[in-house]
Amino acid sequence: MTRKILVVDNHPMVLKLIANLLRKDGHEVRTAEDGLGALEILKSFVPDIIFVDLVMPNISGEKLCRIIRKMPNLQGVYLVILSAIAAEEELDFTALGADACIAKGSMTNLTRHIARVIELASLTGRQERSREILGLDEVATREITRELLSSRKHFEVILRNMSEGILEFAANKKIIFANPTAVTLVGVPEETLLGTEFTDIFGDHSLETVVALLKRPGEGARKISEEAPVLLNGRQVSLQFLPVVGDEGTSTIVLIHDVTKRKLAEEKIGEQNRFLTKLIESLPHPFFVVGAKNYEVLLANSSAQRHLAALDECLQEIGKGEPCKAPPPYEPFGRVLQDKDSCLMEYVVQGQDGQETTHEIHAHPIFDKKGKVTQIIEYRLDITERKKAEQALRDSKDELQKALDNLRIAQQVAIRQEKLASIGTLASGVAHEILNPLNIIGTLAQVMQLEKIPPSMRENLDEMLAQIKRATKITNNLRTFSHQHAFEVSMVDVHALFDKTAALLEHDLNLDNVQVERHYAPDLPRIEADEDQLAQVFLNLVSNARDAMLSGDKRIIIETRAKDGGVEIRFSDTGPGIGVDEIGKIFDPFFTTKDPGRGTGLGLWIVYSIIENHCGTIRVESEKGKGAQFVIFLPTHLQGREDCGLVEAKQGHSVGDNG
Ligand SMILES: Nc1ncnc2c1ncn2[C@@H]1O[C@H](COP(=O)(O)OP(=O)(O)OP(=O)(O)O)[C@@H](O)[C@H]1O
Ligand SMILES: [Mg+2]
Repeated sequence: MTRKILVVDNHPMVLKLIANLLRKDGHEVRTAEDGLGALEILKSFVPDIIFVDLVMPNISGEKLCRIIRKMPNLQGVYLVILSAIAAEEELDFTALGADACIAKGSMTNLTRHIARVIELASLTGRQERSREILGLDEVATREITRELLSSRKHFEVILRNMSEGILEFAANKKIIFANPTAVTLVGVPEETLLGTEFTDIFGDHSLETVVALLKRPGEGARKISEEAPVLLNGRQVSLQFLPVVGDEGTSTIVLIHDVTKRKLAEEKIGEQNRFLTKLIESLPHPFFVVGAKNYEVLLANSSAQRHLAALDECLQEIGKGEPCKAPPPYEPFGRVLQDKDSCLMEYVVQGQDGQETTHEIHAHPIFDKKGKVTQIIEYRLDITERKKAEQALRDSKDELQKALDNLRIAQQVAIRQEKLASIGTLASGVAHEILNPLNIIGTLAQVMQLEKIPPSMRENLDEMLAQIKRATKITNNLRTFSHQHAFEVSMVDVHALFDKTAALLEHDLNLDNVQVERHYAPDLPRIEADEDQLAQVFLNLVSNARDAMLSGDKRIIIETRAKDGGVEIRFSDTGPGIGVDEIGKIFDPFFTTKDPGRGTGLGLWIVYSIIENHCGTIRVESEKGKGAQFVIFLPTHLQGREDCGLVEAKQGHSVGDNG
């Protein structure tokens, strides 16, 4: 029976002999010298029997068998292995999908075994397979072959398990080897991949690059680097081409490295870096990073270069040698290194134009794995405006406080004026009603003194007269206060008036060892005033000071000066001063700290009303133990006096009205 037979053997002599033998028997025979050639033939020729040499260059017999068994149209073909190493390598040919195996021995034996196999295949087809290797007993074992086979196995194991893809293509660019990693990377079954042209495994995108590289002259190692990988089956790969010169001609081994993950990671890092750079750049404030050792600038945003003149100049110099040292101050860096913690401080920068700006400096440590500070981040906020605003706020708070104090004083003054006004009305009425009866009682008592009366009654009468005198004095004081006498204005020389008044008290003052110091302003203007009333003011103030100073240094100091359209008169003494509890009450009528019968408590009340009547002001400055000081201001002219005096004064009461 004529059969279609393919014989594959790299030994041309053997190939020729077998082919001739089979043709002589009338079979249709095709031959191939290697696996690649066989695969080419099998594209158009479907044989009944294939003889495959086991040891062949490029695609080995073993591999060819596996490929053939995976091809659907060759499932029925009877596959026979011709093994020259059957004695040295125990071969389980059925595992390769072969139906029989013949040990290559003498040509005579080989012819016999081939005939036997053809017979078997013709009779039963693939059902009948020989379990044994035909002719195995006719060949002898060669030690060197055994060793070579063993070392080849080692290499095969290594190649199979390498994480790098390894491909080999022949001089005609056809792929003749691919390890499992390469097969996975290309994404095509091994049987399809082997025999495919190497450049065909690349898509349009990378094809050009690979083709151009292969066309480049020179036999040295060619490379597609990890930095600029090509796309292979959707993955980014680097390629390294290693030329191999062997007996069968030149082939090329290609190492394929999958860098997809690395590239993605790099891209991600790059993206993060770009994000961080953008972030840092977008900060409106100066931001920079320095090394922890020499404070050299490692990174700075453009705001830092714009705002820190020293840094800008220095960074311009960068790359010209010396590293650029951070701008001062270095104290925050020192603190960060010492505390291993963030620090915040304010720093005043003197600009070239002499302008000062205040920076708020934030410094933060960056640690290495061992917890050592290796770098320091600094960013600055210009808080000059904020500082100014804070100061303005403080100032306005002070001003507000001052205004509040003034308001309080004005309120007290208003209350006092009100009080004085009503008391004035009352006093004027009372004084009016009391003085006449007092006069009558006094006159009658004096008449009675002239009469002959018992001595015990005379004593009573004397006491009566003393009390009448006292009552008359108080009533007259009340009258002074309520202006029941004429207000006579003249141009008064304050200094002369004071000297005249003090002279009245000179005797008493000398007795009490009280000195009077005068600090008169040279050109003090005369003022429009009622001289008697002003003398009353001086008298009351001098007697109060004298009464207060009981021991030690006893001095009364009067100071004058021209001020804002008037004169200021300061009365100070070296007495015990006035305590906080009393100071608010001293101008009140009948307030006195003197023993009963010694003071009326009307002195300062009268002083206050007189000053007020002169459109002036009076205030007291005193602390317990530090003397008392009364500050009086009196205007030079009294025009508009109606607007500042007491109600009674405005009404123009005079002495003549009291009757
Ligand atoms: N220079 C002063 N030093 C210390 N305390 C003073 C001084 N001047 C006045 N005072 C206090 O103010 C009070 C009221 O004084 P004011 O002149 O109104 O009445 P007085 O002196 O007590 O009585 P009078 O004036 O009728 O003698 C005094 O009792 C005293 O406590
Ligand atoms: Mg007094």
